[in-house]
Amino acid sequence: MEIVRDIKAMRQRCADLRQAGRSLAFVPTMGYLHKGHLALLEEGRSRGDVLILSIFVNPTQFGAGEDFGTYPRDFERDADLARKAGTDLLFAPGGDDIYPGGFATTVSVSGLTETLCGRSRPGHFAGVTTVVAKLFNIVQPHLALFGRKDFQQLTIIRRMVRDLDMGIKVIGLPTVRDSDGLAMSSRNVHLPPGERRQARAIPQSLLLAVAKAKAGERDPQRLINAVRERISREPDAEIDYVQICHDRTLQDVETVDSRSVLLLAVRIGDTRLIDNHYLLEEVWTDEA
Ligand code: PAJ
Repeated sequence: MEIVRDIKAMRQRCADLRQAGRSLAFVPTMGYLHKGHLALLEEGRSRGDVLILSIFVNPTQFGAGEDFGTYPRDFERDADLARKAGTDLLFAPGGDDIYPGGFATTVSVSGLTETLCGRSRPGHFAGVTTVVAKLFNIVQPHLALFGRKDFQQLTIIRRMVRDLDMGIKVIGLPTVRDSDGLAMSSRNVHLPPGERRQARAIPQSLLLAVAKAKAGERDPQRLINAVRERISREPDAEIDYVQICHDRTLQDVETVDSRSVLLLAVRIGDTRLIDNHYLLEEVWTDEA
């Protein structure tokens, strides 16, 4: 595995590989790798000739007072896991290189970014789309792999790629969960044991809603209420949002159908966690 920190060198390396007819599979991350990231790498390994991972904790997607400073970081451990996952190129640029003085451009997607996490984290998705657009421009991969755990992020990136004719195939992979059901997240490391136990209410509430929907409940408000009730039983849980949305438009639905996804964000103590689940069946397809 080659570790590249320099943007120009990375661009050249990727261009040479493309020139040689190799297909490039790209997994952008903020590091502190877990099984969710490794699932993306594994799929990338099987779909592309060259597997590329980026690790960059992107300051512009964190709001003032959010956890940029305390976001977990361990480059040596990440490099080791990446190597074992068959990564060919690990791109780890520096903050001043990605955002040199005078940086003034933003890539932003309207509509899809104004709901769910976009409402409680203003500017977050513009930070995401801008850095992902930059990474895409540097690597110019044939395909890029993202997790459906960040359902809104994936939806927004697909729209950006389509709207800006980036010509990259975006693949969305299922959420990888721990044995207790909690979605893997780099931020889980911040949960002390008591809060970690309370966090199980999140996947449990999702499954409760799925069971009710499958049993015939089609009223989104009743399902949302059931989820809220389950989560509110935990003393350190504070709900940011619970919504049921159409999987493509992310608009709230009036009646639950096969395209309906329940999405939520909950703060457990100081840690903000997100999760989602289709209510009736997993109808995700990578075709936009
Ligand atoms: P990060 O949180 O490190 O996640 C990197 C990728 O891993 C994202 O596509 C995310 O959806 C996926 N992922 C995280 N947890 C997962 C899980 N439990 N199961 C499956 N996939 C999971 O998302 C970001 O970084 C950043 O916003 C980024 C896109 C890199 C831009 O800075």
